[in-house]
Amino acid sequence: MSHNPLISFDLPFEELRSTLMQSFQGMHHVGKDDEQMSFSEIPEFLRFLYAIINGPVKKAYQEIGPARSASSIKNFDETWDIQAKYWAMIESSANYVMSYALLTHHLSLAQDDRVLSLGAGPGIYETYMAKTYTRTSFTCSDLSREMGNFTRSISEGIPNLTITQANMTDLHFDSGYFTKTFCNNALQWVMPEKVEASLREIKRVTRKNGKVVLIVHEEGMSEQIQIGDIRAMIAPRGQDYVTIRTMCENLGFRNILPSAFIGTNAGQTGDHSLRILLKMDT
Ligand SMILES: C[S@@+](CC[C@H](N)C(=O)[O-])C[C@H]1O[C@@H](n2cnc3c(N)ncnc32)[C@H](O)[C@@H]1O
Repeated sequence: MSHNPLISFDLPFEELRSTLMQSFQGMHHVGKDDEQMSFSEIPEFLRFLYAIINGPVKKAYQEIGPARSASSIKNFDETWDIQAKYWAMIESSANYVMSYALLTHHLSLAQDDRVLSLGAGPGIYETYMAKTYTRTSFTCSDLSREMGNFTRSISEGIPNLTITQANMTDLHFDSGYFTKTFCNNALQWVMPEKVEASLREIKRVTRKNGKVVLIVHEEGMSEQIQIGDIRAMIAPRGQDYVTIRTMCENLGFRNILPSAFIGTNAGQTGDHSLRILLKMDT
């Protein structure tokens, strides 16, 4: 049996994966330091999420419809602009809840933190964090202008949240400006040859002895085209988790701590995937 770095979970990777898959009932988390994880904020976060999904998101979904002909899309990255208004419905609420609990647990947000989120999408986690941690400043960034506009629409009047457009492969922020940086469920959409540049940028903009939390899929993703009922993969995106972790080690991230949970991709591929969280120091 091949040796997988995920052995640090104390279980061989395949055993861990099949155990989690078999016991899947919505969401599970396995990691080294999950003992003190707090779910106390979850009911309120869920209420906030549902108000958005049942309000502007459902309305947009009804207006725009679920799919667009691939032939009208010139560049794959444009799909994020199209999905911006209803991404919160494509991602499952179970993933949202699990990810929110994990992110806040691992980021250990403090008053003076300057927190950066990359590939923030609709900015739901970040808006709720900014409402909850009022003395912490948050910067929400995404490649897609429309994602930023969606965040603006749900975060009006929140003073400690800044929204900006940024490509994580080449960031416009000053070196060492942020105390903590996270990237949830987005690095897998960067071009494979740009993943290392993105990690380098994350390290650059996060101050020394700062914290970084990445949530990635076990594998990279694929661009897909859909013509009628036929769906075809056209190009790979991102990198697999093992490659990302090795890159982080080589770039000098310290104290790399992985944990994992099963994400349900109900609105996407219709199956489950292993999502890996990497907590690291800079
Ligand atoms: C799957 S969505 C996740 C959004 C959000 N983090 C969440 O968890 O709800 C992926 C996001 O990554 C963004 N993205 C893709 N490539 C990017 C890049 N190179 N730089 C910044 N954002 C990017 C997309 O625009 C999209 O909003």
